[in-house]
Amino acid sequence: MKVHIIGGGNLGVSIALGLSKFSPENQVTITRRNTSSILYLEKLGATVSTNNIHQIQEADVIILTIKPYQVDTVLAEILPVISNKIIASAVSGLSIENLQNKIGSSNSAVRIMPNIAAQFGASATCIAFHEKDKEKAEDIVSLFQSLGTAPIIDEKLMDAATVLAASGTAFALRYIRASMQAGIEIGFDWQTALAISAQTVKGAAQMLLEEKVHPEQLIDRVTTPQGCTIAGLNEMEMHGFSSSLIRGIKTSLKQIKG
Ligand SMILES: NC(=O)c1ccc[n+]([C@@H]2O[C@H](COP(=O)([O-])OP(=O)(O)OC[C@H]3O[C@@H](n4cnc5c(N)ncnc54)[C@H](OP(=O)(O)O)[C@@H]3O)[C@@H](O)[C@H]2O)c1
Repeated sequence: MKVHIIGGGNLGVSIALGLSKFSPENQVTITRRNTSSILYLEKLGATVSTNNIHQIQEADVIILTIKPYQVDTVLAEILPVISNKIIASAVSGLSIENLQNKIGSSNSAVRIMPNIAAQFGASATCIAFHEKDKEKAEDIVSLFQSLGTAPIIDEKLMDAATVLAASGTAFALRYIRASMQAGIEIGFDWQTALAISAQTVKGAAQMLLEEKVHPEQLIDRVTTPQGCTIAGLNEMEMHGFSSSLIRGIKTSLKQIKG
């Protein structure tokens, strides 16, 4: 497919990098107004441009990775030259209905919520679309399946997906940072503490994804009666470990809903 990414910032670049590595058969164009920091993507096979309509007519898919306040300007620029395109928007808070109204009935609106791990083929990209666009949306689903997992969700869960999958990256990183800080306190240099903490989280996540079991089942395998793990876990819970995470996620969701 020809993939046209508008908004070569954090997310747009991670998608372009992921596509160049995990599905290089796709041709990628990526735009932003100041391209100097992303010109290196050309070496990986992408076309980098400041012009949003450069080669847009040939695109099979247009991906919007711009901020919400940039949407109207960008659409005003591209709409006169496109029709019959799939527009996949990662813009937080922009509903399918709103986007569809803006792009008119000759184009299809799909909502996507990837995260920046797309760069490593490890995004959890939630995707929502209206029934009428089901067939076209399949292209988007398979594109994002090449960058990790791509569950199709009901659009009413899109804000929740934003918090769990996009903000969730920051939450997981904060856990790793805390674990690493503790690692330094108990004797490791920061690089070793980081390597151990990050790999341990990756291993735990991999076990869950492959075994498809509840986390408590795996926790049970690690906690010896009267052992150090259960003592640490109970101490963390007494200080609100799970409840603070749950409260944080619910606060993020409230913030999105405004
Ligand atoms: N970051 C994430 O993890 C993540 C995850 C899921 C969803 N999202 C959503 O994705 C969107 C982008 O987020 P982000 O973090 O990637 O933001 P970002 O880093 O600020 O990227 C936005 C990019 O859009 C470019 N841009 C602005 N106006 C433009 C225009 N008229 N034409 C072309 N490009 C233009 C900007 O570059 P110039 O100023 O050089 O043009 C900038 O690089 C947001 O709506 C966000 O909510 C982000």
